[in-house]
Amino acid sequence: MTALDLSSPVAVVGTGTMGQGIAQVALVAGHRVRLYDAVPGRAGEAAAAIGARLDRLVEKDRLSGAERDAARARLLPAETLAELADCSLVVEAVLERLDVKQQLFRELEDVVGDDCLLATNTSSLSVTAVGGALRNAGRFVGLHFFNPAPLLPLVEVVSGFATDVTSATRAYETARAWGKTPVACADTPGFIVNRIARPFYAEAFAVLEAQAADPATIDAVLRESGGFRMGAFELTDLIGQDVNESVTRSVWESFFQDVRFTPSLAQRRLVESGRLGRKSGQGWYDYADDAERSEPHTAERAQPPAYVVAEGDLGPASELLALIREAGIGVREDDEDHGTRLVLPGGGQLALADGQTSVEFRDVVYFDLALDYRKATRIALSASQDTSHGTLAEAIGLFQALGKDVSVIGDVPGMIVARTVARIVDLAHDAVAKGVATEEDIDTAMRLGVNYPLGPFEWSRRLGRSWAYDLLDDLHMRDSSGRYAPSLALYRHAYASEKREGTP
Ligand SMILES: NC(=O)c1ccc[n+]([C@@H]2O[C@H](COP(=O)([O-])OP(=O)(O)OC[C@H]3O[C@@H](n4cnc5c(N)ncnc54)[C@H](O)[C@@H]3O)[C@@H](O)[C@H]2O)c1
Repeated sequence: MTALDLSSPVAVVGTGTMGQGIAQVALVAGHRVRLYDAVPGRAGEAAAAIGARLDRLVEKDRLSGAERDAARARLLPAETLAELADCSLVVEAVLERLDVKQQLFRELEDVVGDDCLLATNTSSLSVTAVGGALRNAGRFVGLHFFNPAPLLPLVEVVSGFATDVTSATRAYETARAWGKTPVACADTPGFIVNRIARPFYAEAFAVLEAQAADPATIDAVLRESGGFRMGAFELTDLIGQDVNESVTRSVWESFFQDVRFTPSLAQRRLVESGRLGRKSGQGWYDYADDAERSEPHTAERAQPPAYVVAEGDLGPASELLALIREAGIGVREDDEDHGTRLVLPGGGQLALADGQTSVEFRDVVYFDLALDYRKATRIALSASQDTSHGTLAEAIGLFQALGKDVSVIGDVPGMIVARTVARIVDLAHDAVAKGVATEEDIDTAMRLGVNYPLGPFEWSRRLGRSWAYDLLDDLHMRDSSGRYAPSLALYRHAYASEKREGTP
């Protein structure tokens, strides 16, 4: 099954933000594109706006003047749905309402030919439900573009229960022919990206709600330690708190209020008060011209320890030992011990965040997971009220000697990056087990759709098979809600490795 032929006209129905972007993509790929919108005159306005964007591409030398003129000539606003009769693909990008979309597709089915592929760009409705209105739902598919569609490469190609394989394949190949990177996924709430990305926001908000750190500190740790392009607070301010919360609520409600997707009370308050982010001038941060910039907590300089004793294997943080040596600090390795800690000269211990809290051990400081300890410019530490000042100072001094800024946060199990990554990894394993998508497509979707520095499976492989499971299992024991309960899929993943690695 091949992509749609370039001689086949494509229609875009609903010419707002997404419709215009999708139309531009199909147009630049070489199709004739018909635009239709329910509001009279809007399709014409959309055509003019797309034309202006093509002008800018010419100015930037990304399109020749001749290509622009040819593309403009291929762009045809329509006044009635009947004018879409000769199209081979219709992509719908109207209001996000099931009844509106179903009604539109019922009408479209009477207009277009039997072999016309019908697609919805819905982000939160079920593709199966929207297609349920059709006599022939086999030709109906989800084509979920990301905003701005001309720039973002990812397209989730969603198969509803009734979608036939040839339609899904044709939609997939067409998206690829348009220069996009398609991923195939099943019709489940949030598809791939909006499902697996939920913990990125939720865990940051949970750490704030636990009074363990402020937004600027959590954002800085996610960026500088976790390797994420933006922190959860600044990113949701950019997206719009109302938009981000509505995606979270929709996924949560669609999963019958599964606790793993519970929305945040702190974000609810923000939305209720109209603090929607950049667009309203205030969200988690204040965007007024005279507003003071929020700075992350950064510890004062402290004396580094003369040496550390490494007990056992530091797992995903083992690179630290080389960095400590390079900083001129002695490392004594104690292979006899099976712990996973660094012992400081004062007798206190330093351990990688593992889902337990510092209050459970005598004189311990936890440090957060980093994507790459060499490149990280900031590390978060957490201590309890029982941790001695001396141990915390030695821990701060140690990471500062490695060239890192240090943020001291409250005693939350799993800290910031560690709990976030563990939950993303868990949801990714769970999604594969539930037939949502392949590991490879999930990694691609999370890297391209939300700019993650690594796909969840790439991350999972780096962390070691049981790391995420063990951390979540510990968190689950300390949080009775079930929010952190690791999935059966993650348990199987961790357990299978034990069997393979543990038996001769
Ligand atoms: N905005 C995003 O970031 C984004 C990303 C991915 C998917 N989506 C999805 O894309 C769809 C459109 O979103 P948008 O942000 O472009 O919305 P928008 O409000 O910018 O545009 C919607 C357009 O649809 C028109 N419309 C409404 N009902 C219609 C009907 N029955 N027939 C024809 N036209 C109709 C409106 O007049 C309007 O021009 C939604 O399903 C949304 O969930 C949005």
